[in-house]
Amino acid sequence: YYEAKSGKDAVLWLKRQWEEMTKGRNDINVELVSHNWTQPSLILTWKGTDFPQEVFILGGHIDSINHNTDETDFIAPGADDNASGIATLTEVLRVLVNQSFSPRRTLKFMAYAAEEVGLLGSHEIASKAKKNKLNVKGVLQFDMTNFMGPDWNIVLIDDYTNKPQNEFLAELIDRYVKVPWGYGRCGYACSDHASWTNEGYPASFPFEAKMRYSNHHIHTDHDTLANMGGTTSPATNFAKLGIAFVIGVQN
Ligand code: BES
Ligand code: ZN
Repeated sequence: YYEAKSGKDAVLWLKRQWEEMTKGRNDINVELVSHNWTQPSLILTWKGTDFPQEVFILGGHIDSINHNTDETDFIAPGADDNASGIATLTEVLRVLVNQSFSPRRTLKFMAYAAEEVGLLGSHEIASKAKKNKLNVKGVLQFDMTNFMGPDWNIVLIDDYTNKPQNEFLAELIDRYVKVPWGYGRCGYACSDHASWTNEGYPASFPFEAKMRYSNHHIHTDHDTLANMGGTTSPATNFAKLGIAFVIGVQN
């Protein structure tokens, strides 16, 4: 909940995790982005060694919501929507940091506030990036990565996204993740990738399932790990894809 203390506390908690994972590194910095509502966004910047002005972004929203109530702070575990995406980002970061990898181009990991009420955090961040002429070369959105659909493990959303970058991701899935995938569509600006697309940046949104097979417990108090079979293994495909993307764009 973007106006709740718990919404803010979640971001402060993640900040401590990311700082702990990257402590002692002078090429990585973690900072809050405040907005004119309670929940801040969080941005980790990992400075590129060769082309620091070129930026790749991996992001997901950190707010959750329960649509079965009008309260502004209620039970909204959001395990899939979108703790899964935040955990996926964190895993990509953890693996890369532990491999003594240094990106040639700058990486930014972003946890956006207030997505569930209209992509508010990502909209502010993307429009500020545009205003500051930030050279964003590519954006990946992780939003719902841990619910296994009946057929494809990864669905590349083909609206409000960038076709060449989607095709690059498809190639990475075939070569490195090696799971069944296909194309699907939201039909509307359904997550933060749309904020970047609207500013003219290339964005992609690899999603957990075809729309009709996706997790029906989202936006309720039933969006829990138990209701995803108690396992986090579906999300590992997305972490692998995120890592392949980061490595793949350094050449
Ligand atoms: N993760 C959802 C988007 C989603 C849901 C994509 C199901 C694919 C299948 C996201 O957090 C969300 O709920 N978005 C809002 C839109 C936003 C503009 C308020 C939505 O879909 O209602
Ligand atoms: Zn949602």
